[in-house]
Amino acid sequence: IKRIAVLTSGGDSPGMNAAIRAVVRTGIYYGLEVYGIMRGYQGLLEEDLFKMESRSVANIIQRGGTILKSARCKEFYTPEGRKKGYEVLKKNEIDGLVVIGGDGSFKGALNLSKEYDIPCIGLAGTIDKDIAGTDFTIGFDTAVNTAIDAIDKIRDTADAHDRLFIIEVMGRDAGYIALHSGIATGAENILIPERKTDAEAIITSLQEKERRKKLVNIIVVAEGDEYGGIELYRLIKERLPNLDTRLCTLGHIQRGGSPTGLDRLIASRMGYHAVECLLEGRYNVFVGILNNRMNYVPLEQVAKRKGRIAEEWMKVVETLSA
Ligand code: F6P
Repeated sequence: IKRIAVLTSGGDSPGMNAAIRAVVRTGIYYGLEVYGIMRGYQGLLEEDLFKMESRSVANIIQRGGTILKSARCKEFYTPEGRKKGYEVLKKNEIDGLVVIGGDGSFKGALNLSKEYDIPCIGLAGTIDKDIAGTDFTIGFDTAVNTAIDAIDKIRDTADAHDRLFIIEVMGRDAGYIALHSGIATGAENILIPERKTDAEAIITSLQEKERRKKLVNIIVVAEGDEYGGIELYRLIKERLPNLDTRLCTLGHIQRGGSPTGLDRLIASRMGYHAVECLLEGRYNVFVGILNNRMNYVPLEQVAKRKGRIAEEWMKVVETLSA
């Protein structure tokens, strides 16, 4: 392996820059040439790539977003698209590819590596933490802390006005952001897609709280929950019209911002190991961290971390909000 390339794909996540930096600096340290591909697979198909130097990644470890930009590329889902991608890689003599993104991006890498002789390494960059085989994904910790900061602020105003706030956080298929930010802010309810939402039980408990004048309540709802913020808001407005209820959707604020120390650390560690994998011939895996050890999961086995939120967590939620 002499020349490798790195790209970021799918939804951006804070810490992607730290991961790019680690890949570039490790590659250069080992005497490789490192290319940056702009806008994920889209940029690959358009041959939008450039040689990176150590200084190309100076002063980015603390920055959110991704200097390589990101995209979701439909064409890469097709064999023709991947053929085009492979040809660009070959033409530029790239013999290893590091893909920073979520499970969708890993699928693209897997298909490419199956169809052509191009080793691919994945780095889990997603705020959702919805990938099995790793305790951390790059950006999750930052997103949770951003949500915590916002929910704390909302609680101040909820408290001042005796209001019920429904706060929707991101997580298309996974409830980890809701679970972690909800526990850390003492939310009265946390609704996640991994658990069936018992709306009637929530209404009953709110009625009971209303009777004993506990009017300040925070419900954190994951975007992917069967109700989601809007539906739950409508239901509560209809069934409990006397409650002063507000809905706040945090949205993309959770994807931006300076990465936390933890995200910078895991991104640096994973980026370093991605290059080591290429050098050691450990191909077509994604680099995870499990129980504080590197865990190399074959791209073939990439699975959505879904429906697996431990009962223990839910017990904590129920006990502490009782
Ligand atoms: O996968 C990360 C994520 O932020 C999800 O939580 C969310 O559903 C989705 O991306 C939003 O995507 P977009 O930025 O394309 O609207």
